[in-house]
Order: sequence, then C-alpha cells, then structure tokens
Amino acid sequence: MLQRPRRNRKSPAIRAMVEETSLRLNDFIFPLFLIEGSNKKISINSMPGIYRYTLDLLLIEIEECMQLGIYSFCLFPSISDHLKDKFATESTNENGLYLNAIKIIKNRFPECCLMTDVAMDPYSSDGHDGLVIDGKIDNDKTLEILGKMALSQAIAGADILGPSDMMDGRIGYIRNILEDNKFVDTLIMSYSAKYASAFYGPFRDALDSAPKFGDKKTYQMNPANAKEAITEANLDISEGADIIMVKPALAYLDIIQSLSTQTQHPVAAYNVSGEYAMLKAAESNGWIDGDRAMVEVLLSIKRAGAKIILTYFAKEYAALIK
Ligand code: PBG
Repeated sequence: MLQRPRRNRKSPAIRAMVEETSLRLNDFIFPLFLIEGSNKKISINSMPGIYRYTLDLLLIEIEECMQLGIYSFCLFPSISDHLKDKFATESTNENGLYLNAIKIIKNRFPECCLMTDVAMDPYSSDGHDGLVIDGKIDNDKTLEILGKMALSQAIAGADILGPSDMMDGRIGYIRNILEDNKFVDTLIMSYSAKYASAFYGPFRDALDSAPKFGDKKTYQMNPANAKEAITEANLDISEGADIIMVKPALAYLDIIQSLSTQTQHPVAAYNVSGEYAMLKAAESNGWIDGDRAMVEVLLSIKRAGAKIILTYFAKEYAALIK
C-alpha cells in the first residue's frame, strides 16, 4: 500500500495539523429572547439552557457572552397579546419593548454586533409574517409595513437587519428605504432560503408566535426544493443583501453548500430551535454525549460552507472551549 490515509490520523498533533474546518467564536451569532418587565429570566421548556430575559437581565447576559468571546447577537421580542394587531403597529413604536432595547443595548455595548428580526409575526394578531387580507398574505402591502419596521430598527441602532418574512421583493424595498434615509452602513442579512419547517416549533413556543390559522407555506419554501434556493439568493443579492442565510441548517446542508459555491456573498446558516431541542432531549435522556454532538453539528454546518452560524449553542460552545 502506497497510500495509507490513517497516517494523517496518527496523533492529536497531526490530526490537528491536517484539520480542514475549524470553529471560531467570530463565526457565531447568539439569538436572544426579550420580554417585558424587570428582573425576570424565564426558562423555555423545549429549549433547556435558553431563557427569555427582561432587558435588565439581558444586558448582564450579553456582557457574560462578550466576556466569553461572543460579540454578535440576534434579538427577538415577545410582545404581550394586547399590543398585537393586524398591522403589527407596535413594531414601529420607538418607546416599545423592542426598539427601546436595541437603543439601550447599542448604547451600553457599542462594540457588539446587534442583528434584528424584520417580520410581522411577533406583533401580529394573526401570527403571520405578512399582512393577512381575506385569509391571504398580501405581499406588496406587507412590504410597506416591513419597510417602516426595518427603518425604525436602523434608527434605533441595529447593525444588521434580518428580514425573516420571505415576502418577494422585500430586500430591495428595504434597501431603498435605507438609502433614501442615509442609512448606508446598515447591513441586511437576508433569510434567503427559509423553509416551511417543523423545526421552528420551540421558537414559536418561546415567543408565543404560532400562526393563528393555516401555515406559512405560501411564503416559506417547500423542503423538497433546492434550485429555488439559488433563485431566492440571487434575487436577494441583486436587491442589496450583504449576507444570505439558509434556515434551518441541519436538514439543509446541501442548500448551504450549493449557495456557498454558487454565490460570492457570505453564507449564514440558522441552526434553529428544533435542532437545538433535539440534541438537548437526546442528551438529557443519556442517549448521546451532548458536548461532542454539539461540536459535530456546528462543524458540519461550517464544513457545508456556512461562514456564519446563528445558534443557541453559541454561549455553551464558548464556555466549553474556555
Ligand atoms: C419568524 C421567525 C421564526 C424563526 C425566526 N424568525 C419562526 C417562524 O418562521 O415561524 C425561527 C427560529 C428558530 O426556530 O430558532 N419571523
């Protein structure tokens, strides 16, 4: 035998030397859940280790993460039911929970990178990402609402806007509004290939944001489709996105790989709530080694071609390697 691949696996030093993929803390964005009130940290049943925080405690959590080397965060609000309406009016209330928190976080920690969520569902009495008219999602009327929401978030100080709604044309619509208002430095990370997935379940529990009727299949993508992801990504890039995202990650590693080879923009992947929940459930049953499975999953996403990983494991991973 002239070739013996096992030689490259002979010792830890050699294995490390030939290692092709490695995780860096800079790759991670840590999603955070925000609730009203003060001094509350509420657990989420289906996501052990992840909490919903009031702003005061969230600031402490952010500081802890930064001490561990995690500097990028994606913030999601849980809005009380009485503030929800058809038009997601609360999403542009500058003294409301979300915009106020963005301002305070960026004032307190100017060095962190704060990404926001642009979609109607946290504020919508219908629980949909778009405006519901006669039982249907109206794409173009939704754009007007998303445009105002996105601008409000940019004004509040968001570094990256994350349109997670999957309406057609929203990246261009938002980019134009940002340009018109001189927010030329605000990034857009587009949820380009966001699939209609069962893996969002725990997130919807965390935010109480499940659709009140129907499902999201007229705007989120069909899990059976791959080519369509390239169309979506190319549109978002041509409309002004800076980073494109695939979501979920694990059941869509092929999509991550194809976007990373077929486009020039950085690709992000969202390792979603259900993917986190699966590992935690197996770990708590003693069925898998949680730490090793976490590292393996994160590596697989990076190896598939994601430059950036949004993951609920970010803080835990940072603590593990410390
Ligand atoms: C909705 C939104 C969802 C997630 C992020 N933004 C859920 C959905 O589309 O219903 C899911 C994230 C996760 O599951 O971790 N705008």
